[in-house]
Amino acid sequence: MALLLALKKSPLRPQILVAPGSDAMSDLATCYPQLKVEELTGLVQLAQEEDVDLCIVGPEVPLALGLVDALEATGIPSFGPRQAAARIESSKAYAKNLMAQTGIPTAGYQTYTNRASALAALDDWDFPLVLKENGLKAGKGVTICQTKAEAQDHIADLDLSEDNPLLFEDFLQGFEFSLICLASGEKFLPLPVAQDYKAIFDGQQGPNTGGMGAVSPLPRLSGQVYQEAIDQVIQPTLRALAADHSSFTGFLYAGLMATDAGVKVIEFNARMGDPEAEVILPRLQADLLTAICQLLGLETDPAVSSDNLGTPAQTGLGSHSDSLLAGAGQGEAQVFPVTPHTCLGVVLSSPGYPGKVTDYPVIPQAFFEAAQAEGLEVIHMGTRKVPTGYQAAGGRVLMLTSQGQDIAHCREQIYSFLRDQQALIADFHYRTDIGLAALEN
Ligand code: AMP
Ligand code: GLY
Repeated sequence: MALLLALKKSPLRPQILVAPGSDAMSDLATCYPQLKVEELTGLVQLAQEEDVDLCIVGPEVPLALGLVDALEATGIPSFGPRQAAARIESSKAYAKNLMAQTGIPTAGYQTYTNRASALAALDDWDFPLVLKENGLKAGKGVTICQTKAEAQDHIADLDLSEDNPLLFEDFLQGFEFSLICLASGEKFLPLPVAQDYKAIFDGQQGPNTGGMGAVSPLPRLSGQVYQEAIDQVIQPTLRALAADHSSFTGFLYAGLMATDAGVKVIEFNARMGDPEAEVILPRLQADLLTAICQLLGLETDPAVSSDNLGTPAQTGLGSHSDSLLAGAGQGEAQVFPVTPHTCLGVVLSSPGYPGKVTDYPVIPQAFFEAAQAEGLEVIHMGTRKVPTGYQAAGGRVLMLTSQGQDIAHCREQIYSFLRDQQALIADFHYRTDIGLAALEN
């Protein structure tokens, strides 16, 4: 939904179709709720029937299944990696091998293809030990084991094979952050950094989730660490993918740890991050869609562009004809123009999440009206419309975002609002420490 909101703001005034979309999105775009993200044939057919000019593939599942390849075969331009390049997310083993072969800094690791060898290897590793399942796991395939017994219990439940290996990884200590770039081949344009709060409880306690909150920018991150991430991770990764016949187009997401021994990769995603998108995209001062079109070399209708791009000050572009990409990919600190404001978001989750959710409470309409009056944006994650408001339809339900001068201001705005609304959202859970880890020490 964050991506949809950003595209909606484009001065190119795109007509937007979303498949499948959601009740909340249907106020903003034409949605196709009958289409599932894994139904490639139906998605390509829709794109053909509607004669779309550009398909932006958001989630990881259709990317891993090869939606971009299928769209390309019919001549429809898309922004997203082909199946081979999407392996950087869909196969942790592929990503780790690529990093090992090209010297991209990451945690030490080993792959195990059966339970017996994984259990036997436990004596060779220090604890905490990170265990990672190989495929797409919606942010929940990683387990950090404090003891050997915990690791044994975890491995006992897994069904390992050549196609489904388990990775052991050294535990990295440091400051975690996300750096996402728009990329096409070796050209890239970095978006502002953000931080995802993944654990279900305050202080990074409890199991990991799809993300319980996020913040951008990160006062604690130095320019030097940022530049190291660009030079030692983003650039060489795009180069390595291009050299591996898997040239990457789309959002390249690097989950990074700034450690005492330098920046190291925790994971790559082949898409925009969630919940990072919700706090990064509102900060962009130039048009995301124009940048994507420029990267892909797509013409934007000159009549539409010159009428609607507005003044340079409004768009953040130097001038209509200036490219956002001047210098991109040459290692210069070319970044997307952004506001200096902080954007911070807090997620409300359903009872039981990230375990089994059995209860899907309703958030009354009054909550949404009060948020709007307070200047807070509500970004729906898993909701369905009901006569009295929106009912939870998934583990993570919605994210409340605030834009303000700094983290303290945003936190105060969101958390005082949530306290005031407690009676309406008593069944939901949220973390109370979003943003604190991003503050300078
Ligand atoms: P991933 O799905 O790979 O992003 O992992 C989920 C979360 O687990 C990450 O965001 C980190 O907080 C944590 N994590 C993953 N790998 C490591 C590691 N090697 N060392 C420390 N924490 C990790
Ligand atoms: N925020 C991590 C992810 O999108 O997977």
